[in-house]
Amino acid sequence: MTEIKATNVVWHHGHVERGGREKLLGQKGCTIWLTGLPSSGKSTVGFSLEHLLVQQGRMAYVLDGDNIRHGLNKNLGFSAEDRAENIRRIGEVAKLFADAGIITITSFVSPYRADRDLVRKLHEEAKPALPFIEVYIDTPVNVCEERDPKGLYKKARAGEIKNFTGVDDPYEAPLKPELVLKTAEKSLEDCVAELASYLQKQGFLPA
Ligand code: ADX
Repeated sequence: MTEIKATNVVWHHGHVERGGREKLLGQKGCTIWLTGLPSSGKSTVGFSLEHLLVQQGRMAYVLDGDNIRHGLNKNLGFSAEDRAENIRRIGEVAKLFADAGIITITSFVSPYRADRDLVRKLHEEAKPALPFIEVYIDTPVNVCEERDPKGLYKKARAGEIKNFTGVDDPYEAPLKPELVLKTAEKSLEDCVAELASYLQKQGFLPA
């Protein structure tokens, strides 16, 4: 639980509403939350979707776990507590980006259901509520381990990394994700097309 130390702070309302920014951008702000094991394909799918959307003239941006841990979250490790704080901060950042009208794509292992549910709640409680689309990148651990582009499963198996998700740390799969993408069974293009078509159907990408 996050201790609240910020007291005597008062919310300042701006003069521009979200609707005004969305009109300017010709789209609806939302958060597409990609979750899955390390090497499941989250970043690959996320950055490909961002590329496709920007090519189509949409404003999209990826918040990526490894990248964010180079800066904003460089002071967090991989204990359950640090992962919770990692996800809480990114949930708040994603909410701000979505409120700015941006199609925000996050790519974090986010292994704990409670942490992801908290981010969903943050979005639901925004005024007006912000769309939160949880996407489970459902790739079997043996496939992730075969891919292992960063060689981290190998290191974890050799005992060089402790608490590695999928090896000696848990991953709690979403119970009711908005979308499930099986990257071991479908091509990258098909996964990205499915996401883009979902956004279209939900009305986030008006013509
Ligand atoms: S999360 O669990 O807090 O959501 P996040 O997505 O930010 O994790 O970072 C995961 C990335 O950190 C992995 O892609 C991997 O490159 C690296 N990493 C280093 N140590 C670990 C670990 N113990 N468990 C999972 N990923 C790790």
